[in-house]
Amino acid sequence: MGLFITFEGVEGCGKSTQIALLRDYIAKKGLEALTIREPGGTAIGEAIRQILLDSKSEIGPMAELLLYEACRAELVLMVIRPALEAGKVVISDRFMDSTVAYQGFGRGLDIKAIDRLNKLAVGEAVPDLTILLDCDPEAGLRRALARIENGKGPKEDRFEREEIAFHTRVREGFLSIAKEEKRVRVVDASPPREITSIHAEICDIMTKMGF
Ligand code: TMP
Repeated sequence: MGLFITFEGVEGCGKSTQIALLRDYIAKKGLEALTIREPGGTAIGEAIRQILLDSKSEIGPMAELLLYEACRAELVLMVIRPALEAGKVVISDRFMDSTVAYQGFGRGLDIKAIDRLNKLAVGEAVPDLTILLDCDPEAGLRRALARIENGKGPKEDRFEREEIAFHTRVREGFLSIAKEEKRVRVVDASPPREITSIHAEICDIMTKMGF
């Protein structure tokens, strides 16, 4: 079996940058990493992504939850499982913990029900390692919105419009998962910490895992 790594965190925590750096690190070790993102990564998943992130979409919390899980089930079946079975390294930008944090802690849906749905969608494809880029939500949102204003990021999505209290609950959700799950490693990603220093800590975690 390959290695499955996921990155999690609040808006603007720097996941994309750290994933690109980790992919280079893995390439230098002579391995190829497949990078994917949630929601998305399959034809159906990208179509669902459009609906989920469109700021004009009006979706109730339960439909939102089920769409994320549908997207995940498809991604596991079509992409993640085959890649892991072929011995590849898979790096996902968000995965099952985002649903607990956003739909559970953020929206207030039942966490036990979300855990059951996650198990159904994911099966055996549980991450080997999850890097939680822990970041102050206000600083993260400022970074995400600045990127949008500079034309460097996608346009504002439904979640970036949520109030700060929502994002604070999401952060607490991630930290609470980290307390429960050994596979989750918390890495401080709040400004002013430098990108290179965050990357070095992630490389250190990889080295200790034998990579
Ligand atoms: P991102 O590509 O900017 O990370 O956007 C994905 C958005 O979707 C982000 O705001 C978090 C949200 N999300 C959930 O609410 N639940 C989920 O299960 C996942 C994977 C993402």
